[in-house]
Amino acid sequence: MRLFYRLLILIVALLGLCLAVVLYYVANPKLPSGTPAQQVHYLEQWSANDRQTYYFTPQGTQVKGLRYDWFTALELPFSQQRFAAPEYLARFGFLIDPDQKATPNNPGNLPVGFARHQNPGSPDQFLDITCAACHTGELRFNGQAIRIDGGSAQHVLPSSVPTLRGGSFGQALVASLASTYYNPWKFERFARNVLGPDYDARHQQLRQDFKKSLDTFLKVAWNDTHRGLYPTQEGPGRTDAFGRIANASFGDAISPSNYRVANAPVDYPQLWDMWTFDWVQWNGSAQQPMARNIGEALGVGATLNFFDENRQPLRGEDRYPSSVRVRDLHLIEETLQRLKPPAWPEELLGAIDKPLAARGRGLFAENCAGCHVPKVTQEGERWVQHLHMLPVEIIGTDPTAANNIANHRFDLTALQWDPAELQNMEVKLHPKPTEPLDLSQLSVAKGLAYVTAFVENRAYREANITAQEKPQFDGFGLPIGVREKVAYKARPLAGVWATAPFLHNGSVPSIYQLLSPQDERATTFYRGTFEYDPRHLGYRTEAFTNGFLFDTRITGNRNSGHEFRAGERRNGVIGRLLQPEERWALLEYLKVLGGPLEKQLP
Ligand code: HEC
Ligand code: HEC
Repeated sequence: MRLFYRLLILIVALLGLCLAVVLYYVANPKLPSGTPAQQVHYLEQWSANDRQTYYFTPQGTQVKGLRYDWFTALELPFSQQRFAAPEYLARFGFLIDPDQKATPNNPGNLPVGFARHQNPGSPDQFLDITCAACHTGELRFNGQAIRIDGGSAQHVLPSSVPTLRGGSFGQALVASLASTYYNPWKFERFARNVLGPDYDARHQQLRQDFKKSLDTFLKVAWNDTHRGLYPTQEGPGRTDAFGRIANASFGDAISPSNYRVANAPVDYPQLWDMWTFDWVQWNGSAQQPMARNIGEALGVGATLNFFDENRQPLRGEDRYPSSVRVRDLHLIEETLQRLKPPAWPEELLGAIDKPLAARGRGLFAENCAGCHVPKVTQEGERWVQHLHMLPVEIIGTDPTAANNIANHRFDLTALQWDPAELQNMEVKLHPKPTEPLDLSQLSVAKGLAYVTAFVENRAYREANITAQEKPQFDGFGLPIGVREKVAYKARPLAGVWATAPFLHNGSVPSIYQLLSPQDERATTFYRGTFEYDPRHLGYRTEAFTNGFLFDTRITGNRNSGHEFRAGERRNGVIGRLLQPEERWALLEYLKVLGGPLEKQLP
């Protein structure tokens, strides 16, 4: 008996220890220190008004039902400090100004891209993560910050899988939500703060709504963890966009049999000039701006209903209600058409060596232009750049992202679509299929194309978009094109110096390394700092407190291909060896390519 009690005490003590460890990490997620910059410098990419529109126009996404005023009132688990304080959110990689204040556009004084929206007929204001959260970058040098509008974010927003490090946004947010719900003093403060004079009348309701949102977070975390859906850690600056959209739209919303392992996180691409590209996405799979944006919004949490209350699939005009905001999406898209690539700021990052850059221009024409300078044609009002697509076996970079998108299949029969009806929709498949579509085995790109077409039609109707307005809202009258090449696109390189790290999976930290043979590239390096290295054109890669160790040996993270090396051109070798002085010359040219300084080269 004594033995039994001793064992029991031991087990209880061990459990207590485990709980203490978990609580410790919950209370202290491993975040970088987030030292504020002395000043944020904006480049001349567009007007200050355009910037505000871009930063804070909502698109209709919801963060699992989180209300805006809840988010701004949340406290940290073991203190009364505000979770949404700008300095705290900056530690997850979100962008702020050193002494930013609340404004009418940003009443919660939140980072770039944290907007809010209200759905028609509802009093609730939801937190809305908009484009600018993922497509705005920043570089730090000598204590100064340089904002890159339309550049690549470095935050840890998307991860839903808890780790012991605890460095992700979702995990820290859940810790705050849970402690608010379960700690009565915290909840009391929170509820008084959110409800003000309505406290007595509404705090019960608030508690119920709050629990619903918390449960959704926990359900997703549990689902994604026990199914092992995201085995390759995304870390800062990446997400498996297509994989997550498919798991949300076809897995969560239709059937668990549609969950697929998403092990190909990709970088957030830069957005200047993208409206002139014939096809977008890393694998060149999307064509129509509105459909692309709706698909993205669904992936980021816009609501979508496929079924009625009795779990019967919606039909006809009822398909598909969603919280996407097509007028706002169109406003953002138009604003982005005015965004210029960032021009190298000599006063902040150092003077350009013009003779060296001129030498780089020659090397660029010889070694790079064949792929990176697209053919341009005029189509109506718009100049269209026809980007080169390089099959994965030629470019040799990590094939996982392109393969997953081309090969994963999803069963959408539960939606009961009529194949004859699908044929009359504005979806254009490339190449045109010779056989009827098999709705039990649809690819993510095709499935999403039809879903977004239904969502778009209904949203246009509800927003009273007229037939005349439609082509403009769609974007240049383009159809919802779908391509599934196992290939990556070679984008034009204006402003690319500001978009580290490189390749679709962010596996190469600097342009210098990208122009070096693979065995000279770093096998592992740290991500998550904004400190810029203006010599090699990338973020700094050395260890720092709570940095994320990026390991290029993990599936999806490979840093192979796009190689310049002596010998045969195969397995990702795409050009001759570039001598170090040639690499420096090319880097100097890439700093000015497409900007005002290019015209001043000798
Ligand atoms: C949660 C982060 C996130 C948000 C929010 C987001 N995007 Fe993206 N976006 C991505 C990622 C990741 C990709 C790359 C996906 C791929 O190609 O596999 C991408 C790709 C794109 C591309 C293709 C660019 C290219 O070079 O091919 C465009 C254009 C784009 N996004 C525009 C937008 C717009 C406009 C919005 C808002 C309406 C938006 N995005 C919101 C993460 C985001
Ligand atoms: C054979 C075609 C080809 C040639 C030649 C080529 N590239 Fe690329 N480049 C690509 C493709 C395709 C990608 C995208 C690969 C990926 O993301 O996996 C790319 C990506 C890049 C990127 C990263 C872009 C980003 O946003 O991450 C840079 C920078 C770049 N190339 C620079 C150069 C330079 C400089 C040269 C000449 C020295 C060059 N490339 C020559 C096809 C080419």
